[in-house]
Amino acid sequence: MAKNTTKDYDAELNKTIFDIKHQRTFCMIKPDGVMRGLIGEIIRRIEKAGLKVVAMKMLTPDEDLIKKHYPTSDEKWIARLGNKSKSGLDGLSLDVKDTFGTDDDTELGQSVLSGLIEYMQSGPVVAMVVEGIQAIEMVRKLAGATLPFKAEMGTIRGDFSVDSPVVANVEGRSIHNLFHASENVKEAESEINLWFKGEIICDYSLGNDDIMYCKHY
Ligand code: CDP
Ligand code: MG
Repeated sequence: MAKNTTKDYDAELNKTIFDIKHQRTFCMIKPDGVMRGLIGEIIRRIEKAGLKVVAMKMLTPDEDLIKKHYPTSDEKWIARLGNKSKSGLDGLSLDVKDTFGTDDDTELGQSVLSGLIEYMQSGPVVAMVVEGIQAIEMVRKLAGATLPFKAEMGTIRGDFSVDSPVVANVEGRSIHNLFHASENVKEAESEINLWFKGEIICDYSLGNDDIMYCKHY
């Protein structure tokens, strides 16, 4: 097919397409997912979507690792945690302050964060690097919304968890939502680097690569 493009343009385009096909994301089965025997089910969903697990390990993270994993000095992210807790009140006639002890997003977010740090150390996790076309967005879709009771059916969190920040808050814990997935390229790169620094990320082809990712006919 004749194309009216320069060599430089074609090379750049080919590189971009290669990068999209091989996009990598970090994801993790959290302690509740491991303890509920959902490792196989969660990985099955990732593989069924046509994505490829290219690195994987099981470990019980310590406080230092979890504090490095989450953007604990990002005030906007902390306020967002608080705001997500507040959205757990949707449809309930409860007062924010009475329920959570504060209506300040940052203050509420800080308390969510300490529960989260404790929850993530409560048992082994399965950490993974997953690769494929638009892997970051794909794995976020497979995960579903953060709050289990809002996560859509058909997603990992929607199908296998049922929790709400209101209930969790009363019990002084984080919500249990089974699974973590990087939200964007920057997060994916820093999380892969944190969890798999200096470790081998595998390179292999799936039997259906040709059919899924290429013009094979
Ligand atoms: O995990 P995701 O990217 O969907 O959400 P996040 O806003 O980055 O929050 C990180 C984690 O904090 C969540 O997955 C939950 O485990 C926990 N969290 C919580 O327990 N209560 C909230 N109100 C918000 C988040
Ligand atoms: Mg997140």
